[in-house]
Amino acid sequence: MTVVLRKILIVFAHPALEKSRVNRKLIEMAETIEEVTFHDLYEIYPEMDVDVKAEQKLLKEQDVIVFQYPFFLFGMPALLKEWMDLVLVHGWAFGRNGDALKGKWACSVITTGGSRASYSKEGQNRFTMRELLAPLEQTVRLCGMHYLPPYVIHGTNVMKQEGINEHARHYRAMLKLLADGSLDPNVLKGLEYLNDFMMDNG
Ligand SMILES: Cc1cc2nc3c(=O)[nH]c(=O)nc-3n(C[C@H](O)[C@H](O)[C@H](O)COP(=O)(O)O)c2cc1C
Repeated sequence: MTVVLRKILIVFAHPALEKSRVNRKLIEMAETIEEVTFHDLYEIYPEMDVDVKAEQKLLKEQDVIVFQYPFFLFGMPALLKEWMDLVLVHGWAFGRNGDALKGKWACSVITTGGSRASYSKEGQNRFTMRELLAPLEQTVRLCGMHYLPPYVIHGTNVMKQEGINEHARHYRAMLKLLADGSLDPNVLKGLEYLNDFMMDNG
């Protein structure tokens, strides 16, 4: 059965968007989709004073929550972690009576300077992206959400503009397919990266 994921929220964190090449292009494309709400944490909370009630209300209205950010020291930028610690709390997102997000879908969209090969046991970074993203995966599962594979764009520092444009096109296409129900998220669950599907079919 096809799952229709109409409302997609992109929780975005980039502390220096003015210098961004890749994320900037990705969001430019994503924002053209009607079902996508773009939520830029560093723009909304430059002082990191997250409005927890407003964030929880916004989350409740969504079908899919996308965490989009550049990889910084093998993790997420500080404001996104702060947002998670404050918003995804016991009694609301998990624990006793904490089922506000249950049944929703979540994934991360991440850009890295390092190549895909560097994120392997034998590579320079020693761990795969899936391994490094284990805390996020477990947080999503703790909240009763379905975890989609990450959408990872590697090698951003040396990527030419054509490559960035192609990734942005695929990203937009994937969001559109998810939003209109043409793509069954259950089929995507088995992939290492979500974008592998778009590379093969995009
Ligand atoms: C403070 C900082 C930390 C970074 N840490 C990593 C890292 O741990 N691994 C990695 O592959 N790239 C790392 N990078 C590279 C960024 O992930 C890369 O520049 C970014 O994804 C490019 O996206 P953008 O064009 O949207 O800024 C880091 C960059 C900065 C500025």
